[in-house]
Amino acid sequence: MNYRHGYHAGNFADVVKHVALVAILLHFRKKDTPFAVIDSHAGRGLYDLSGEMAAKTGEAESGIGKLRDLAPPLPEALDTYLRLAGESGADRYPGSPLIAAKLLRPQDRLVAVEKHPEEAALLAQVLHPFRKASTENADGYARLLKLLPPPERRGLVLIDPPFEATDEFETLARAVQGAYRRFATGTYLIWYPIKSQSAADGFCGEVLAGGMAKALRVETSVAPDTGKMTRSGLLVLNPPYGFDSTMKDVMTLLAPRLGQGGPAQTKVEWLAGEGV
Ligand SMILES: C[S@@+](CC[C@H](N)C(=O)[O-])C[C@H]1O[C@@H](n2cnc3c(N)ncnc32)[C@H](O)[C@@H]1O
Repeated sequence: MNYRHGYHAGNFADVVKHVALVAILLHFRKKDTPFAVIDSHAGRGLYDLSGEMAAKTGEAESGIGKLRDLAPPLPEALDTYLRLAGESGADRYPGSPLIAAKLLRPQDRLVAVEKHPEEAALLAQVLHPFRKASTENADGYARLLKLLPPPERRGLVLIDPPFEATDEFETLARAVQGAYRRFATGTYLIWYPIKSQSAADGFCGEVLAGGMAKALRVETSVAPDTGKMTRSGLLVLNPPYGFDSTMKDVMTLLAPRLGQGGPAQTKVEWLAGEGV
């Protein structure tokens, strides 16, 4: 367990993933019915962009750092994301559990699972002010099976593994299928790196073999293959109504800023249901 998200916090992949997270939770908030958020690989919740880790990679500078001067009018999801990110100050960046916690209403709930003990301890401090948010220091994959279905029967499962293990795609696909069997009406936001398009396609195909009725993917490439992580994807199961057009609008605005040496290439496409 060497992965530390501090090296990557606020990079292009975080930006796209966190705007998608905000878009989904804003949609949930349109109805009074309570929702649950399960964040299986939560990280520490708040990252220091002025520290050694961020300085070493400079990734935040080419991610959130490129968006600070975006002017309104903006799509609501992007506007809300930028406001929430700004609340942490210019030198800090909020992770997925802090962003989700800030969007909970009194009737909603967040369970954030983090395996690394130090990261989990920091996360518990970050989430302490949020009464409806809890932290678990545990294996997110194992906990998913216990936490689903949530009693609310309405919610988002965010799965954002570190991809340190060579068989993470296989583990992830199995975990998503197991989770979906327990909670087929939930929305799932699943992050993956794209080192090879065929591996990414294979992963999405493997997940969808579980019989998912609605699946959309959002893929972003910020530069030609440089050996660094320049491409990533989101597989979204049961996306809320209008999520595809929201992400298209957002990516049109973000592509010129996140691209390195030219606009980023983005793709929002249905793999099952709706637009297929
Ligand atoms: C990509 S980071 C998460 C970033 C976070 N979701 C965000 O968007 O701010 C992955 C995290 O998963 C943690 N991790 C690794 N294996 C895990 C497991 N089996 N269960 C839960 N957490 C795990 C790592 O310590 C790391 O903090």
